[in-house]
Amino acid sequence: MTLSASNLFRPGTRVRLRGAAKRCLQLPLLALWLVLLCTQPARADAQLGPPPPVPPAAAAKDPEASPGGASPAPARIEKSAQPSAKPNPVVEAALEVLRDECVSCHRAGKAKGGLKLVSAEDLKAGGESGPVVAPGKAADSLLHAVLLKEGDPHMPPKKQLTSAQTDAIKAWINAGAAWDASVLERPPKPKPVALRPMPKGVQPVLAAVFSPDGASLAVARGGRVEIRDAKQERFPVKAAFDVHVESIQSLVWSVDGSAVYTGGFRRVGLWRAADGVSQGEWTEGLVGQITALALSAKGETLWVADSLPSRGGFIHKLDWPRRQVAKTWKAHDDSVYGLALSADGRWLASAGADRVARRWDGETSALAATYEGHTNQVLGVAFDSATPRLATTGADREIKVWDRDSREQDAVLGDKKQVVTALFWSKDGSRLAGVTDRGNGAVYSAIQKHTGEQRSDTSKVQKLDKVEAVLQCVSTTSDGALVAAGSADGRVFIWKAADGKLQPVD
Ligand code: HEC
Repeated sequence: MTLSASNLFRPGTRVRLRGAAKRCLQLPLLALWLVLLCTQPARADAQLGPPPPVPPAAAAKDPEASPGGASPAPARIEKSAQPSAKPNPVVEAALEVLRDECVSCHRAGKAKGGLKLVSAEDLKAGGESGPVVAPGKAADSLLHAVLLKEGDPHMPPKKQLTSAQTDAIKAWINAGAAWDASVLERPPKPKPVALRPMPKGVQPVLAAVFSPDGASLAVARGGRVEIRDAKQERFPVKAAFDVHVESIQSLVWSVDGSAVYTGGFRRVGLWRAADGVSQGEWTEGLVGQITALALSAKGETLWVADSLPSRGGFIHKLDWPRRQVAKTWKAHDDSVYGLALSADGRWLASAGADRVARRWDGETSALAATYEGHTNQVLGVAFDSATPRLATTGADREIKVWDRDSREQDAVLGDKKQVVTALFWSKDGSRLAGVTDRGNGAVYSAIQKHTGEQRSDTSKVQKLDKVEAVLQCVSTTSDGALVAAGSADGRVFIWKAADGKLQPVD
């Protein structure tokens, strides 16, 4: 089966730490919490520094970004083979403007001016001042008037759209303002951004994953991958390579354990674990932070979570060997913080900042279920391989264990006092590990269905030795015997699950 990157991180955490690095690092316990309270729209900008002039492809060629030593030219993956239905170009151009410039403030849960712009019904319903579009008459339509320089209110509030964009809206309204829902489901057009190396000293560990045989631990620290020997005392570093300018957000091992996939900003790379030599990369169609990855049991399918905070979490299903996108869809209305694949490969689960987790058919990508119940962002998701259940963790400080099919909550775990930032269910199903923003962690086993009595009765809990760190990712060996976690300030911690004892790490 797969190594699901079910743990991973919170982009906001990292941004926050980066933006206000010193202060937050002095107050690590507060940092994540502050982040979770923050609203998100500014994140993407904050972490990427000032806009243009270098497109990401060029920035990625920066010497600092390339793997150490002589690597062959990466096998670039060909352009997407996804069939894109070509609708009416007038409609498409206008709806792309709405999608890329307006929807972030005009959607469910954030309908500024009482106006939503995500469906044909929304458009018809209009806003506080009534209808916003008079089909056929752009000159009489508020939706067009607000875009003009003298618009009052002016939209978007702090920016002037290009004349091409305002003309697109005008032409669309004059043509009858038809709707095409598929445009809204596609990722926005990426805007070029320059990637800058992170300030020295801010190298968060956002992913740490054991190899399939449990012999190695891959750690993503900032833009660097470290391969540690998990069979030796002190877990020494066997290999290390710098592969991204930006922070690596997600990591999975190849099926045979010879290479690791990394997800960064608009880029997925595959690197030989022994020496970091590039085995190929993928950038086509990626628009945001690659916040989670999941690999099928045979390694032919890689699911890539592509997140634009507060705008959408997209999943790209890549046929890696054939270098093709099999499918791209909008999975959540906000970032995707976790992906996990069921042991039989049948189901893919996603954790969304939009407070829900979802289950997708691994073959057809059809939505199979939505798990509702968290009152804040869902930060991680994991499947049980032993029973048809999955677990989610939320910024609402709860771990929920769900019956996969009925979507009922079988159990609620955790002390409700801290945020379990990441979850990992051992491949054999024996142990569920979770770590918190306050340096605590626990391993749950024998999780029973909640009967309405004491919470502690619903599972066996082995606490992990506390550390002074904001923990943000977790993984276990297949048998759950070792638990590894990474922290916001760049450290790695490893515990024995049996007694929760912290092990020395070089
Ligand atoms: C950063 C947030 C933001 C963005 C982005 C944004 N809007 Fe708005 N919009 C608002 C706010 C806030 C109001 C309410 C302003 C007021 O009433 O003074 C509003 C009001 C409106 C209204 C008036 C609704 C009514 O019935 O009074 C229209 C029309 C509108 N926006 C269209 C757009 C369009 C079209 C775009 C994209 C080109 C856009 N907005 C992008 C925040 C935003």
